[in-house]
Amino acid sequence: MISVCQQLYPHKALALGQQLGLPLLDALPTAKQWQAAEWQEQWVLAWFHEKNQDENDPAQLGLFSAHSGPVFVDFIGGKKQHRRQFGGGKGQPLARAVGFGSLFQGDDTPRVIDTTAGMGNDAFVFASLGCEVLMIERSPIVAALLQDALNRAHHAVQHADCDPELAATIQRLHLVNADAADYLLQQQPPADVIYLDPMYPEKKKSASVKKEMKALQQLLGPDMDSSRLLAAALQTASQRVVVKRPAKAPTLEHPQAIQPNAQVESPNTRYDLYSIKALKAAGKL
Ligand SMILES: C[S@@+](CC[C@H](N)C(=O)[O-])C[C@H]1O[C@@H](n2cnc3c(N)ncnc32)[C@H](O)[C@@H]1O
Repeated sequence: MISVCQQLYPHKALALGQQLGLPLLDALPTAKQWQAAEWQEQWVLAWFHEKNQDENDPAQLGLFSAHSGPVFVDFIGGKKQHRRQFGGGKGQPLARAVGFGSLFQGDDTPRVIDTTAGMGNDAFVFASLGCEVLMIERSPIVAALLQDALNRAHHAVQHADCDPELAATIQRLHLVNADAADYLLQQQPPADVIYLDPMYPEKKKSASVKKEMKALQQLLGPDMDSSRLLAAALQTASQRVVVKRPAKAPTLEHPQAIQPNAQVESPNTRYDLYSIKALKAAGKL
């Protein structure tokens, strides 16, 4: 059960509750209340300020539960900025996977559709490398977290002292709340590269899975229909489809058993690459 807390912004809460068809809650449970049995299966969407945050800044929307601190998306501070500055730029495995240094040289950048936007981490990396990025997310709850983060980021980059590169990165991110397979097939949006990072069924509790991904796994469960998404992506991308997998996981199933042509590997992750040109030349598409 999910509810929307109206403590800080009653009007916004009413609008979000109506949009998502969720009930309203007057106040966030206290730490003690979260421990009670009745709250163990509950989730609360609530606006909040972080400890060191200026109370005049817009509060952020987070997803609270008994099992973790608030899960929220932040395009301006924290980990995403660290990765932007120190993540390895166009040489990092994710960048090579979408074709930097091979398909796209110099200032050439792909238009990317991230069909499984989630917490926006990978989409932000693409945008910080100069790509126009369409993020597609089907969970209305996760899409609401992404939209809130985008709104706050647009607000923040209007300040004169904002890093112009960060401002440009934010302008390149766009969001759609939809099932990506349906969206690709119906809208046929232009894309050089289409990216998939479906939720993988966790066999055991892995310490390497980040807190926010654990919460997403609990809320959404594994994505069991990704072969349909892969088929739609292969029909839509003009150059490449990239699928992110855990390092030892099998390749994603495809209705006609299409397999990747190449891989980019990193310690815990493998990126399976499907070249549209090669698949067409082989008569598979
Ligand atoms: C593992 S998470 C993606 C994490 C993301 N790459 C990141 O960097 O934060 C998978 C997300 O994809 C979404 N998703 C899965 N299948 C989808 C589909 N067919 N259309 C849209 N969203 C989808 C899920 O709801 C979930 O939020």
